[in-house]
Amino acid sequence: MDWGLKNRIASILKSNNGRGVMLAVDHGYFLGPTEKLEEPKKTIAPLVKYCDSLMVTRGVVRTSVDPNFPVPIVLRVSGGTSIIGEDLSNEKITTSVKDAIRINATALAMSIFVGAKYEHNSLVNLGNLVNEAEEYGLPVLAVTAVGKELEKRDARYLSLSCRIAAEFGAHMVKTYYCDNFEKVVSSCPVPVIIAGGPKLPERDALALTVNALKSGAAGVDMGRNIWQSQYPIPMIRAVRAIVHSNYTLDQAYDLFKKLCQEYPIRNNQPNTSRNNFSQNQKPQQNRPQQDRSQQSRQRPNKPQQNKPQQTRPQQARPQQNQQKKQYQKPQQQKQPQKKPDAKPQPAAAAQAKSQ
Ligand code: R5P
Repeated sequence: MDWGLKNRIASILKSNNGRGVMLAVDHGYFLGPTEKLEEPKKTIAPLVKYCDSLMVTRGVVRTSVDPNFPVPIVLRVSGGTSIIGEDLSNEKITTSVKDAIRINATALAMSIFVGAKYEHNSLVNLGNLVNEAEEYGLPVLAVTAVGKELEKRDARYLSLSCRIAAEFGAHMVKTYYCDNFEKVVSSCPVPVIIAGGPKLPERDALALTVNALKSGAAGVDMGRNIWQSQYPIPMIRAVRAIVHSNYTLDQAYDLFKKLCQEYPIRNNQPNTSRNNFSQNQKPQQNRPQQDRSQQSRQRPNKPQQNKPQQTRPQQARPQQNQQKKQYQKPQQQKQPQKKPDAKPQPAAAAQAKSQ
């Protein structure tokens, strides 16, 4: 592999552990101003320092990302469809490699749609993009299974998609977490990172991350579960602690809760006094969601090898189906807001200092 290609991959997946935290903010390319990403600059600015790379379109890079801040850009270069159009799989390459180089992109990203009507076009697009990108030492991230293909989120389908992406020359693959995710990772000869998918309760999203990493994922390319949280900075920092410091689920969630006390809801500034919630705070509105999360944490784990927290993603499935509806009917996107359990844990507080 050429030095430049290796060097660019190493700035996305860190050379010390081969892992990375990619912040996904490219959703507008087919969803428009989706919830909590209506003004990309406001969403991105407070989070960018906590990610290893930013997945974004050229329009948002140029208008909403500070060029003085040295974050590697993973540039989405495919598109051409919208949430209200006929078929999300009918994408083409919409941004040239020349423009990607002008932007100083570190990698290119495009979607493939295995099993969809435009499967052939998307795979040929991937092959052609790899051909051109490799001339300049630019790695390509293949994004598998979006839109309608979310229905097929199982290890058999995702292994097929990821393996085909790698066979076409993708240098990294992004996919969704599923049961038996080890199979997806082991049969894909290039690093696999996971999308977060539809918004989940924070603890569930952290469980998804822990389980994916345990199954061999190289990191996350996460969007909605970070910036649709009422606590986006605590969330990305907790995810980061899992990816780079091997935090367990309990450690990461404790860190999240601790950081929630430092950052007020959604305005992303360190907290001073107002909006600070404490152990003494009365039960909040929307607590049932939190309670549901706590209950599910107590359920016995499914006895599977190497998957002690396998129950979490299964619980998430109804929300995945719900997201499919969201893709079809974006006006239904609003979900009830919730508060995390605010009790700080002393052990996590000490660990939090290093995050
Ligand atoms: C989907 O087409 C986009 O590429 C997103 O970047 C991807 O879905 C990851 O974002 P999220 O974590 O919100 O699923």
